[in-house]
Amino acid sequence: MKTRVGVIGIGMMGSTHLDAYRKIDGAEVVAVADPIKERREGLSTAAGNIEGQSKGGVHFSAFRKYEDGMDLISDPDMDLIDICLPTPLHLRYAKAALASGRHVLSEKPFALDSRQGKELADAAADAKGMLMCAMCMRFWPGWTWLKERVEDQQYGKVLGAQFRRTTCHPGGPFYSDGAACGGAILDLHIHDTDFIQYCFGVPKAVFSRGYAKDTTHIDHVVTQYLYDDIPWWSRKGPGRFNPEHPFICNIR
Ligand SMILES: NC(=O)c1ccc[n+]([C@@H]2O[C@H](COP(=O)([O-])OP(=O)(O)OC[C@H]3O[C@@H](n4cnc5c(N)ncnc54)[C@H](O)[C@@H]3O)[C@@H](O)[C@H]2O)c1
Repeated sequence: MKTRVGVIGIGMMGSTHLDAYRKIDGAEVVAVADPIKERREGLSTAAGNIEGQSKGGVHFSAFRKYEDGMDLISDPDMDLIDICLPTPLHLRYAKAALASGRHVLSEKPFALDSRQGKELADAAADAKGMLMCAMCMRFWPGWTWLKERVEDQQYGKVLGAQFRRTTCHPGGPFYSDGAACGGAILDLHIHDTDFIQYCFGVPKAVFSRGYAKDTTHIDHVVTQYLYDDIPWWSRKGPGRFNPEHPFICNIR
């Protein structure tokens, strides 16, 4: 039996998710919601900034269509509700979807601050369904390779690591509004933080500095993640890489 899915928000990420569901045998999209008629009817696809996304080719004729995500949540005939809404709407719709008893996949970031994030985590703890955040980079090929090498220690134990992401601003009104998208620190750096935690566990301490450029929020940021068993900042003095154990990884 297939997992029946409803997708809320058929913008850039909503159409990317529709593309992905088409390739999963065990999934069947049954409903979509978007106030923009052309999008919920599949007449236009939002452009994306990820290679290979939003390719189209999805047939919308069999989908039930709703103008608002809350109407889709009221439709009982689906197992999983997938939230691809602008970030400020995630909390309200994800909580409503969890309260309806279905599994929920929400685009990142879950919420715009830790208080809201905890509110959603608490709602998930009490819910019948599962909640998952779409931290997609854990599943990207280069990143899965890196996670495997960290675990199997093919090149030795990781004693220090350096990650760097450089990317252009995605543009458009949503990503230019720091209050809505959270700036690059929340919109993009969250992927880096998630991946570092995925590989190495929760750090003992985090130190971040950055500045606003494209939005009113932090758009350029450098973070140090401090772990007791990754000693490259402490053994030979601050800022000096441990030459006995070089492990440098640049991700762009
Ligand atoms: N996982 C990733 O790598 C990744 C990449 C890009 C964006 N995102 C996240 O995806 C989310 C969506 O970003 P996007 O670029 O697709 O935005 P978008 O503006 O392209 O799409 C959002 C869609 O939601 C629709 N919408 C708004 N209110 C609605 C409502 N009440 N009910 C139903 N639909 C409604 C809009 O009409 C629009 O089509 C953001 O939170 C962003 O951070 C994640």
